[in-house]
Amino acid sequence: MPKVLISDSLSSQAVDIFRARGVEVDVKTGLKPDEIKAIIGDYDGLAIRSSTKVTADLLAAATNLKVIGRAGIGVDNVDVPAATARGVVVMNTPFGNSITTAEHALALMMALARQIPEANASTHAGKWEKSKFMGVELAGKTLGIVGCGNIGGIVADRARGLKMKVIAHDPYLSPERADDLGVERVDLDTLYARADFITLHVPATEHTRGMINAGNLAKMKRGVRLINCARGALVVDADLKAALRPGQVAAAALDVFAVEPAKDSALFGMPQVVATPHLGASTVEAQEKVALQVAEQMADFLTTGAVVNA
Ligand code: MLT
Repeated sequence: MPKVLISDSLSSQAVDIFRARGVEVDVKTGLKPDEIKAIIGDYDGLAIRSSTKVTADLLAAATNLKVIGRAGIGVDNVDVPAATARGVVVMNTPFGNSITTAEHALALMMALARQIPEANASTHAGKWEKSKFMGVELAGKTLGIVGCGNIGGIVADRARGLKMKVIAHDPYLSPERADDLGVERVDLDTLYARADFITLHVPATEHTRGMINAGNLAKMKRGVRLINCARGALVVDADLKAALRPGQVAAAALDVFAVEPAKDSALFGMPQVVATPHLGASTVEAQEKVALQVAEQMADFLTTGAVVNA
């Protein structure tokens, strides 16, 4: 019977699926790297979210491992080349948390537009600062979406419902899909120049790392509001801080950080910055979907050899 280790918190339904599919499963979360390394040799499969770091060192000890399943989209926490070199298949679940992440980006956009976190803290403090918190309307504003795939496409659809103009930069966005979404395809510089709100939905790659830097921030419309629910590495924090100070960027909402857990950041404490601890995928519904999907995919692979989303 194949054996799987679940080393990050996954919905318990994943366990039920593995067992129903004839896969033995152990749930051991919160282990230190050395503790995982000591036991990983016993397992054919490893199911993770983002906490477990699957390094080349861990893979060297994973002598029986055949598949790593990431319940989520990004596989940044897996050394994919090292896994591939050892013949270990790496799977993700590209769709299960798209709606939830798009909704978090929209929630952050609204939080920025109406300064909800600051107004909430002020009201709880008994200050009643009604005149301090003048907001901006979303209707009629231009939303620039960088990366219009699964998540960006859902953001576009919802933003159109809010009566925003939506422009998007994505080399893979076909004219037909853009028409369906009601989105105008533009190059990045045009997006920077025209957008009142910019939301990022691209992975961290050699092309996107550090793309929100001093040069590109200077190209943006003065008073732009920036939302990042994608990856922290896209943003150069020091440059964003420098752009927030004089109001070139009016406000920023960040769900992701270059180093996570983010215990410290140049941006923490700035009143113009709304920060959440990588909650993009954190809804009951999304976590059930990704857990079910990853368990099904891994069980299929271990029992039949079928490869999905690898
Ligand atoms: C993902 O890549 O699926 C998201 O960033 C969600 C997560 O890691 O929790």
